[in-house]
Amino acid sequence: MTVLLPSRSYSKVAAATFDLAGYCPKNPSYLQTRARVNRLIDRYLTISLLSDRLTDLPSQFTTPHTRPWEPINWKGINPDQVIGIDPALFALIIAGATEIEAPIRAYSQESWDYLEAAHPQMAFFMGGACNGDGSIKTMGVWEKEERQHAPALRKIYQQLTGEKLQLKLNSVTGYQPNGDPWNAVYHHTLLRITTEWSAAAVYLWLMAHSTGDLQQAIAQPLQDEVNHLAKFWGFNRWAFAEPFFTQMKGSTHNLVDLLKHHQGERTHSDDLMGTDHLNHAIELTFTLMRVMVRLRAWNKELSPSFLTYLFGISPMSGASQDVA
Ligand SMILES: [Fe+2]
Ligand SMILES: [Fe+2]
Repeated sequence: MTVLLPSRSYSKVAAATFDLAGYCPKNPSYLQTRARVNRLIDRYLTISLLSDRLTDLPSQFTTPHTRPWEPINWKGINPDQVIGIDPALFALIIAGATEIEAPIRAYSQESWDYLEAAHPQMAFFMGGACNGDGSIKTMGVWEKEERQHAPALRKIYQQLTGEKLQLKLNSVTGYQPNGDPWNAVYHHTLLRITTEWSAAAVYLWLMAHSTGDLQQAIAQPLQDEVNHLAKFWGFNRWAFAEPFFTQMKGSTHNLVDLLKHHQGERTHSDDLMGTDHLNHAIELTFTLMRVMVRLRAWNKELSPSFLTYLFGISPMSGASQDVA
């Protein structure tokens, strides 16, 4: 005789094993983690979503608006929601990601300096406007969105470890004029694309290794990074009309650097890195590559007529595209 479970308890079981990354086993294998990464990319980096985020950019020039966050249940975040890796290592990577997110004011000022002469509207989107004394008059939308990331990660770290995160600030190279504003913009935008791409991959990977309130919290900065990535990628395609995959080579080391970031600085980090470093570096590299595969598929949709419709005539049209 077949015994049917009451529908209520069945749905309880189902809810416990599926999350934003699909099926959620307690201890996922490498292949199951890959499947979770792929599921997240299919959720957060669809072709239509990327196009929507790019289409939003020209409207930012006339009516600036930040992407609203879904509510986060901070108090619900706990180490039991870390899936398939040591929660201490997970917290370590959150700490590394937090340091990479700061100092945003210096980053947005740097972007403003590069973009102001070539494309004032994009400069305003990134870095807003300053008063004569250097104080902020209007904050750029990119800066406003980025400013939420480090505090969110800090709260996550505190929920996971019970400790406050002490931050080391990154140094920012700053504006290095080379006498050719568009050439400088080209190199600067590539740098920003690499950073957004790496950040999106790290958040996707962290979401593949988490569930519940923890996973939902990381989904917010992730969606901001995807939003920025689509905007910078599309802007660069419009301005320079050439694929830049060759320049993107070698960027995987950003992710490995992130894993190494705290090596030797925090308790037990050597043990954690020694055991798991290779596996996680492989998973992170896989995630980075899957994001690039999706971006390349989307890139094919970005016809010159669509980009002209969004941003007007490209500054490089008719000119020799000597941007190397
Ligand atoms: Fe960010
Ligand atoms: Fe970003």
